[in-house]
Amino acid sequence: MTWLVTGGAGYIGAHVVQALRAEQIDVVVIDDLSTGDAARVPGVPLVRASLLDRDAVERALAEHDVDGVVHIAAKKQVGESVADPYFYFRQNVLGQLTLMEAMRDAGVQRFVFSSSAATYGSPQSELVTEGEPLAPESPYGQTKVVGEWLAHDAEGAYGVRTVSLRYFNVAGAASAELGDPEVLNLIPMVFERLTARKAPLVFGDDYPTPDGTCVRDYIHVSDIATAHVAAARHLERGGASLALNIGRGQGSSVLEVLKVIGEVTGLDTTAQVAPRRPGDPARAVASADAIREQLGWSACYDLHDMVESAWAGWLLRHPQARDLA
Ligand code: WQD
Repeated sequence: MTWLVTGGAGYIGAHVVQALRAEQIDVVVIDDLSTGDAARVPGVPLVRASLLDRDAVERALAEHDVDGVVHIAAKKQVGESVADPYFYFRQNVLGQLTLMEAMRDAGVQRFVFSSSAATYGSPQSELVTEGEPLAPESPYGQTKVVGEWLAHDAEGAYGVRTVSLRYFNVAGAASAELGDPEVLNLIPMVFERLTARKAPLVFGDDYPTPDGTCVRDYIHVSDIATAHVAAARHLERGGASLALNIGRGQGSSVLEVLKVIGEVTGLDTTAQVAPRRPGDPARAVASADAIREQLGWSACYDLHDMVESAWAGWLLRHPQARDLA
């Protein structure tokens, strides 16, 4: 069995590649290296190409005798998607369509799809189950809903079985080298402020939550990775198509995350309150029951593990942060 991992040289993709290889599963990566880095996947065959390059995708599938695809390559910044929706639909939807056409022609019928909690928009439930209505609030989230539809329709028409994995808030790293180099999410954004000797920003402290700050379900990227392995195994066994949350089922507020960051770094994380960020739901916490029942998977790591491993990666890339204390 060989699995093609699209976006395998990226932050999440490289963790998935590592987890598949730890299970002795053969892997080939396709990545355009726009945000990925070949150094993350040493010893793994890497095709440097965009998914929009149909010939390159076809060659990768044929030359490596691919049996299944884990599709992670995508653009993922909500604000950027609002500013340039055509770009997001081209990269995410057209990219996936081109990939799935090539899969059909090569007879590849197993598909693990990186979806997102952004498909739910502002969820109404305390614990979001997969039955929650999909109501994305950005072009980014819309491309993930369309991606799930495309995969769903491909089953009836071409026999493709899909596990769509709806990630909640991914954080942490398996090793410092595999840490997220981008500063797009809460934990790295706080590290960046601390490194500049500035107080971390809290975007709104008047939400209807226990401490007034937004609540999220943070999940370690190593747990995300093992969920993909479980999904691939499920499809290899002939399992049915599924759409599943990957989360811990535990909410943490921004202030709770800041407290853990203070404990891990030894730095003062007293926040400066900034205005609410448009479009932020007050609360988004997964129900993690379905993935446990269907795939036998549950998270191993907690928020402390995420912050500690993310901080180790930050120090590797920002050695000046060692002298802050
Ligand atoms: C978390 C909380 C911020 C920075 C986004 C995407 C989602 C998914 C994951 C891709 C929010 C608050 C942040 C800061 C803060 N992406 N915050 N101060 O917005 O939950 O989800 O990333 O799949 O689709 O929307 O993640 O890490 O940006 O923010 O107070 O300096 O931290 O307002 O409440 P978010 P985030």
